[in-house]
Amino acid sequence: MNHRRSLVAVVLVLLLATAVVVTGCAPKTAEKKLYVGIVLPTKDEPRWIQDETRFNDALKDTPYKAEILFSQGDPAKEKANVESLISKGIKVLILCPHDASAAAAAADAAAAAGVKVVSYDRLILGTKNVDYYVTFDSIEVGQKQGQYLVDRAQGKGNPLYLYAGALSDNNSFLFFEGAWRVLQPKIADGTFVIANSDKAKALQNKLNLTRDEMSQIIGQITTNWDFNSAKNLAEANLAVAPASMKGNVFILAPNDGTARAIADTFAADPAIKSYVITGQDAEKASVQYIIDGKQSMTVWKDVRELVKDAINVALLYIDGKTPEYTKTYNNGVKEVPAKPTPVVVVDKDNVKDTLIKSGYYNESDFTWPK
Ligand code: BGC
Repeated sequence: MNHRRSLVAVVLVLLLATAVVVTGCAPKTAEKKLYVGIVLPTKDEPRWIQDETRFNDALKDTPYKAEILFSQGDPAKEKANVESLISKGIKVLILCPHDASAAAAAADAAAAAGVKVVSYDRLILGTKNVDYYVTFDSIEVGQKQGQYLVDRAQGKGNPLYLYAGALSDNNSFLFFEGAWRVLQPKIADGTFVIANSDKAKALQNKLNLTRDEMSQIIGQITTNWDFNSAKNLAEANLAVAPASMKGNVFILAPNDGTARAIADTFAADPAIKSYVITGQDAEKASVQYIIDGKQSMTVWKDVRELVKDAINVALLYIDGKTPEYTKTYNNGVKEVPAKPTPVVVVDKDNVKDTLIKSGYYNESDFTWPK
């Protein structure tokens, strides 16, 4: 038996070697050159695993090879990742920064080596060395979250709990700005009462906040994009909330991971009768929460689209061309060209028509009510 197996193996190797000699070419992957380096913030959040999976799917159809590295929430590791990709000869860097300002040094290093820099999903701040920004419309994400709450609030005095992303992520500001645009008029007219931020309360009559004002509010309500921090903050908020801030409540949660942590905390408080809570990313675990009635909505950002845009931009740069743009984003130093992709609200009513029908997920990925 063993003898037969090794014979088969020898024959296979010989056949392969002949094929390479005869056709003059090695297996296809070996031909592909490493032209694109992709650096994502962390493996610890399902959102970025979604991006990795979709990149790997999409890259199969390109003539170039790409390498994906993760920074694990550490700007030093992020910079080392970028440097290692530069040394391997990449032509384009697709970087989603963990810390928007710290990542400027990595972008500068890439530019100094003649590498084009594409900021992916999150904007790199404080450097002229960002050639393009591939992104969803993050203001729209916040607006859709805020509008979802507004559309479900009746009467006056509804308790509103506000939560935000990390201060080091420019998107946290865009999400909050979008949500504030629709929530603020409804706070000012008494529909909502802010339950957990005196900084936001002090600014509740102001529609257009400065970055510094937003920083002050976000500083009080940040989850740091971390599930445990989100849970701890929600627990601390509920521990000091008076009875008037309990009952039927409304919660602005910035993304799915934090939404699940916050929702679980609110669900465990016997004085909370009902809650409406937002989310973002259409993570599988949150889609199940939505089906089960534990999370109200998510903002679906079709990562396939973002990945497609990023790869197209990279291919254009490799060909020496310049990608089109519809809008620019100021990163403190430069107006960075971008073509933001729209986003979609998903809740219990349309989950099948959106996520399943589009093939983003399979129906069998979830448990459905009988
Ligand atoms: C992304 C979100 C993500 C969050 C936390 C944001 O910059 O746009 O999709 O949930 O970071 O990782």
